[in-house]
Amino acid sequence: MKIYAINASPRKNWNSAKLLEGFVKGVKEENPDAEVEVINIYDYDFKGCRSCFACKLKATPNQCMIKDSIQQFLIDIRKGDGLVFASPVYYFDQPGYFRAFMERLLYPGPVKGKAIPVTAIYSMNATSEAEYQEYMGDHFKFTHMMIQNCFHGPLKELKVFDSFQREDSDAYQASKSNHVAKKERYEREFPGHLENAFNAGREMVKEIRAIQAAEATK
Ligand SMILES: Cc1cc2nc3c(=O)[nH]c(=O)nc-3n(C[C@H](O)[C@H](O)[C@H](O)COP(=O)(O)O)c2cc1C
Repeated sequence: MKIYAINASPRKNWNSAKLLEGFVKGVKEENPDAEVEVINIYDYDFKGCRSCFACKLKATPNQCMIKDSIQQFLIDIRKGDGLVFASPVYYFDQPGYFRAFMERLLYPGPVKGKAIPVTAIYSMNATSEAEYQEYMGDHFKFTHMMIQNCFHGPLKELKVFDSFQREDSDAYQASKSNHVAKKERYEREFPGHLENAFNAGREMVKEIRAIQAAEATK
């Protein structure tokens, strides 16, 4: 069982990274033999889709043909059993660099012959589900629809609101009271979010097992 875990934040020790780590722990708890490959996309130098259509050629179907540092990941993820990404929200969307990654992953078209469950984890400044729905809900609905069209499996969302963004309040141009309130909420709620991520990891293993069992009876 192979699961690809993408950290779509440039920060390797903050909200997205920690939530992803919680998810991976859950996977390992449920299935110690599961192989998990963590990809910090900002470690790689790449650009988005070039619209070359090589992935649409009959000779090289369903494969991004841009030869660069992420090409092999794009090929491998489509052969994996599960995909999870943890991402910040940048301007009501996934970060541009992650969008570039996703263009390359999705444009080669739907994966063939298998269903791959996906978990989408987001951390954001927005403070509630209502705020998320008002500003990002419609947009993410379409993004997730495209992801599901490609991977066919269930897509689960896990959202963390009002994320805590830095330790030092005095050095930054933001109100101290806001910083303190965020920190308090973070300390109160983040352990619960980590637990949710952990449980989502366990859940993905169960989903993969169910998909594999159904495949075996065909
Ligand atoms: C360039 C930039 C744009 C952002 N835009 C939004 C936004 O539109 N909505 C929001 O809720 N949070 C926004 N944020 C806040 C981040 O989503 C939030 O801090 C997130 O938890 C960071 O994740 P990380 O700690 O994993 O890097 C933005 C942050 C940055 C740096």
